[in-house]
Amino acid sequence: MVNTEKFITKSIAGIKTAAGDDKVVMALSGGVDSSVCAALAARAIGDNLIPIYIDTGLMRKGETERIRTLFNHIHLQVVDAADEFLASLKGITDPEEKRKAIGERFIRVFEREARKVGAKCLLQGTIYPDRIESEGGIKSHHNVGGMPLHMEFTKVIEPICDLYKDEVREVAGALGLPKEIQHRMPFPGPGLAVRIIGEITKEKVDIIREANWIVEDELVEKYRPWQCFAALLGLGTGVKGDNRIHGWIVAIRAVNSRDGMTADPLDIPFEHLVKIGSRITADIPRVARVVYDITAKPPATIEYE
Ligand code: XMP
Repeated sequence: MVNTEKFITKSIAGIKTAAGDDKVVMALSGGVDSSVCAALAARAIGDNLIPIYIDTGLMRKGETERIRTLFNHIHLQVVDAADEFLASLKGITDPEEKRKAIGERFIRVFEREARKVGAKCLLQGTIYPDRIESEGGIKSHHNVGGMPLHMEFTKVIEPICDLYKDEVREVAGALGLPKEIQHRMPFPGPGLAVRIIGEITKEKVDIIREANWIVEDELVEKYRPWQCFAALLGLGTGVKGDNRIHGWIVAIRAVNSRDGMTADPLDIPFEHLVKIGSRITADIPRVARVVYDITAKPPATIEYE
């Protein structure tokens, strides 16, 4: 575990040195990693920090409004890039290609915004496990292996790239960030895209966003898991009313973990699982089947792609 106060002092000095007098754009998603980075960078470089939230269209229900409310005290720019992201993902089915397309799109949007204000530096909330998984060939996290080779940015600053998630949460506490941010479940940068098998379409994103909302509503408060969400697996046969339908199969994923490197499935009472399944198929007519993922990490990963 890091010495939190020492870490804060050191990283503020590090950001100051790295940025100099330059303007710095940063990716603020509203999760604990990027919020900690924003708090550190604001102390280090003040108004030279330009925090940007990109609405990729792959975010959870109500997320963009939540971010606007949470960060209305700083000059957060909200960029609607949903159509762009969807267009970049069109026709792609391979998980690694998807991650690379998303990583590249993020950078292109940030470059565009950076050009407008003359910023040359990008600051992002990469943490240690993102690097290990990308470098170890497990998967390209959007902000590491998923980044394009050629970028207009001359410098990328990653103040918390040596920290594990629980350490980031400690730093968040020491910085006085709201509890809601400090303890929020992790949500991956590529968003709902890594919870959809196969090509990303608007219809699939809309379905999984709704199912995800239900899963979080049923599980977060009650069990406080490390992470829980819904994933879209594919199409299968079902019956609704008197009709056979070709409907979507949704998986519920809920895990406990210490650092995201390994994970165990959550022990949810069977009746509760059945209730969640019924709620999902009732509220989302195109879903015909709901399954519970009982796999640990390893051999599975937490996300689906
Ligand atoms: P996996 O699926 O690798 O997930 O077992 C481990 C943790 O990392 C999160 N995750 C990501 N976070 N960009 C991120 O910012 C990514 O590309 C990414 N992929 C996975 C995942 O939600 C879990 O908490």
